[in-house]
Amino acid sequence: MATLADIKQVPLQRVNEGRTSKAATKAPDPDLGFDRIPASRYTSPDFMRAEWERMWTKVWLVGGRDEVIPEPGDWMTHEMGSESFIFARQPDGSVKGFYNVCPHRGNRIMPKDSVGSSPSFKCNYHHWEWATDGTQVNIPDLETFPQLPGCMLHLKQVKVDSWGGFFWFSMNPDAEPLRDYLGVIPEHLDPYAFERMKLIDWKTIEWDCNWKASVDAFNETYHVQGIHPELLSWLDDWNVQIDCLGKHNRYLVPFQTPSPRYADQRSLSEMMVGLAQLNGLDPAAFEGRPRDLRLAIQKAKRAKEADSIYPYKDLSDDQLSDDYHYMIFPNFTMNIYGETMLLFVSRPHPTDPNKMLYDLMNFAHLPEDQPWQLPDHQTYAHGQLSLGLVLDQDAHNLPRVQEGMNSRAYDGLILGTQELRIRHFHKTLMDYVGADCADDR
Ligand code: FES
Ligand SMILES: [Fe+2]
Repeated sequence: MATLADIKQVPLQRVNEGRTSKAATKAPDPDLGFDRIPASRYTSPDFMRAEWERMWTKVWLVGGRDEVIPEPGDWMTHEMGSESFIFARQPDGSVKGFYNVCPHRGNRIMPKDSVGSSPSFKCNYHHWEWATDGTQVNIPDLETFPQLPGCMLHLKQVKVDSWGGFFWFSMNPDAEPLRDYLGVIPEHLDPYAFERMKLIDWKTIEWDCNWKASVDAFNETYHVQGIHPELLSWLDDWNVQIDCLGKHNRYLVPFQTPSPRYADQRSLSEMMVGLAQLNGLDPAAFEGRPRDLRLAIQKAKRAKEADSIYPYKDLSDDQLSDDYHYMIFPNFTMNIYGETMLLFVSRPHPTDPNKMLYDLMNFAHLPEDQPWQLPDHQTYAHGQLSLGLVLDQDAHNLPRVQEGMNSRAYDGLILGTQELRIRHFHKTLMDYVGADCADDR
C-alpha cells in the first residue's frame, strides 16, 4: 500500500477541460512568519473592547438575507455584540438600517431577533413612532417637550449595501464601498448565483467559546484527521489550495475523493458509493481508483448542465465537485457547492469573550415551481440541539479549546502551514486593532 508520504507527492488532478476558472488561480502566499498568536486575543475583556471599538465598528458585516424581508415595510432585527439593528425594506427596493434604540429613554424599539412587516416602528414604552425610512412621525404630547420643536429625532442610520442576496451594513460612516471591501470575492463567487438561492435552514446557537475560535475551526482542514476521521474516506484534507485574498481568504477542498491519509485507496468507501449513486453513476461498473471518482462526478454533472436548476454551466469543473470555502473578514464563513451554500456567521457575545453566537444558515437552488417558506429561526444553548455529526464534533470541541486558552500554562497559538488562513485572519484583525493594543500579549 502506498504510504501517506508517497501519496502526498501525487498532485491532485485539476482538469477543467476548457472550463478553467479564473477563480481557481493560486494567489501568492504572504510571508506572515511563524510567531505564536497571543491567547489573550481570545480571552481578554480588554482585547474584546479594543476589537469592538477598532474592528467590529469599522468593517462591513452581514445584516441579513434579502428573501427574509422581500416587500416594502418588511423588517428584521439583528444583534451584533452589544448593539441591535433594524433593517427595513424601502419602497424603492433598497434596505435601510437603523440602530434599534429609542432616542427618548433608550428602549429597544423593535423586539430583538425578530422579523415582521409594519407601516411604521412604534416604541412600546411611550409610543414615539417612526416611518420605516427612519423619519420620526409622532411624539405623543409633543407640546410637553419644549426642547423639541417637532418630530425631528430620526433613527440613527448605518450604511447598507447588497451583494450575493445578502444586505450588509457598516457602523463606520467612513467605510469604503462594500464592493471595495469585498475585493475579488464577487468576481470569484458571482457564478454561483447566491441571489437565486433560498434560505432553507436558519439556526443560532450560543457557543461557549470566543467567536475567533469558531472562525479558526472552519479555516483549516488540519483538524479533519483529529476531529472528523469519518470524512477522510471522501474528502481530501491534504491537497487543499489556500489563498489569502486581501482581507479575506479561502481554501479549495477536493470532495468526492479520499484523503491520502485514508487507508483504503483501492475500493470505494460506503460514502463514495453513495456519492456515485447520487450522481447517476453505477459504483459496481466504476473501474477507476477511488480518487478518480471526483472527475467522473464532474463529468456527470457537466453532462446535465443544459437543463439543470443549478448554475453548472457557469462553474468550472472543480466547482462541480469541490468545496470552495471562503471566509469574508471578519466572520462570514461560506461552504460553497454547485447546488447549495452552507453559511456560518460567528458573532461576538455582547460582554463575555468566552461566549459567542453561531449562526447556521443553509441555502439551496430550488426549482422555480417549488413553494418556499421562511424557515423558523430559533436560538439554542450550547449542546441543546444536534447539528449533525460533523458540526456536533466541532461544537463539542470548542469549549475545550476555550478552557485551554484560559490556562496560565498556555503560551499562545502555534500555527503550521496548513493553518495559514488563521494566521492571515489574525494579520487582518491586527491591522484593524493596531499593534499598540495593550492587551495583545
Ligand atoms: S423610551 Fe421609547 S418612547 Fe419612551
Ligand atoms: Fe470541523
